Amino acid sequence: MPLDLEAFPSDFTWGTATSAYQIEGAVTEDGRAPSIWDTFSRVPGAIDNGDHGDTACDHYHRWPEDIALMKSFGTDAYRLSVAWPRVVPGGDGPVNAAGLDFYDRLVDGLLDAGITPSVTLYHWDLPQALQDRVQDSHGGWTERATAEHLAVYASVVAERLGDRVTQWATLNEPLCSGWIGHLEGRMAPGLTDITAAVRASYHLLLGHGLATQAIRAAAPGARIGLVTNHSTVAAASTRPEDVAAARRADGHTNRWWLDPVHGRGFPADMRELYGVELPERPGDLDTMAAPLDWHGLNYYFPVTVADDPTGPVPYTREVRLADVPRTGMDWQIDADGLESFLLRLTEDYGVRKLYVTENGSAFPDTVGPGGEVHDPDRTRYLEQHIAACARAVRKGAPLAGYYAWSLLDNFEWAYGYDKRFGLVHVDYATQRRTVKTSGRRYADIVRAHRTATGS
Ligand code: IFM
Repeated sequence: MPLDLEAFPSDFTWGTATSAYQIEGAVTEDGRAPSIWDTFSRVPGAIDNGDHGDTACDHYHRWPEDIALMKSFGTDAYRLSVAWPRVVPGGDGPVNAAGLDFYDRLVDGLLDAGITPSVTLYHWDLPQALQDRVQDSHGGWTERATAEHLAVYASVVAERLGDRVTQWATLNEPLCSGWIGHLEGRMAPGLTDITAAVRASYHLLLGHGLATQAIRAAAPGARIGLVTNHSTVAAASTRPEDVAAARRADGHTNRWWLDPVHGRGFPADMRELYGVELPERPGDLDTMAAPLDWHGLNYYFPVTVADDPTGPVPYTREVRLADVPRTGMDWQIDADGLESFLLRLTEDYGVRKLYVTENGSAFPDTVGPGGEVHDPDRTRYLEQHIAACARAVRKGAPLAGYYAWSLLDNFEWAYGYDKRFGLVHVDYATQRRTVKTSGRRYADIVRAHRTATGS
């Protein structure tokens, strides 16, 4: 499919993304302590096939090979996350030098290869020790202290890497930690409690604000952002009940996470709906709304909802549309949703610099007789979404980069290893990496953009 690559500025960033627990493995090496995902993945039935991240893609040992893959794509940047339980194994307290050393080597390796590291501090792997520390509520993010510990950990990492890393994100997808981890129970720590979920969401955003301050103090040149995941929300019908349901679903999925960081506080309609008192202290909302240098959008799919008064909070039911294209996750494919969310962030929230920090698709790949992985569905998804980015840029979205999720097939949380999002196939038995057709197509796009813009 032809792409309007000239829409993107010549300094547009093309990258790939991963996260620590999903690829590193080596969960007991060099002083790393367990995270809530090490614990959750041992809960019977929590993860498909009983999978866990003990070895994952063995990136902890194979990172030079993985950097070489990025280099072969010609991408400018790599979005990685630092594992908090490697660096501060107890959540607070002593720093583990060996854990920091790993990221130091990784950052140097990336820079030597001409790849800019973009570092996310928290991609869901909370040290289990903090989950176990029950003070006012259920431990972990339900406690205010966890937000404060995040900031201390952030300053430790920024002090060590801030001379070489300029691009920082505090949190990845707090919605998943907050709602899926504490309300739906499908992710660590596996709670199903609205009070815990609202408290966790509050402390995650507070932690984001405190970590932003900490990074700025430790690394003055830092460019800091927050990465949130969103879906466009449509009503299943024009019935007023369904239209109201779509408004609630939008509040739950989108406004609850965006309004506080854009200085609007928590949406009043959702506060009333949840009926949970916020653990608010004076000054918190200002901390959450600390000015950012960029915002990262993770976009995968749209949703359509109907009213469901007896359904789960926010009393909506997802309606599965027939005859629409879907990925192997059963997620609807709708690249227009990416365009429209980029424009919403631009026009409604006034974001002045945007990145698509994740976008990608899982499909059941098959390895051909010669070991090749031909993945036309993923290739089409990639092209359609890059085309959507180009349309958004033409309409004024200040989009500075696109990171494909993911560099490698990896541990897809509750779905284990069956769901493959990589541009590179991983044979988990041998750890052999094979670039898929989509990976080669991505490299072509990066090259073509450079040619088109003379960069
Ligand atoms: O694999 C995840 C990632 O960790 C966070 N964003 C969505 C991806 C696909 O589900």
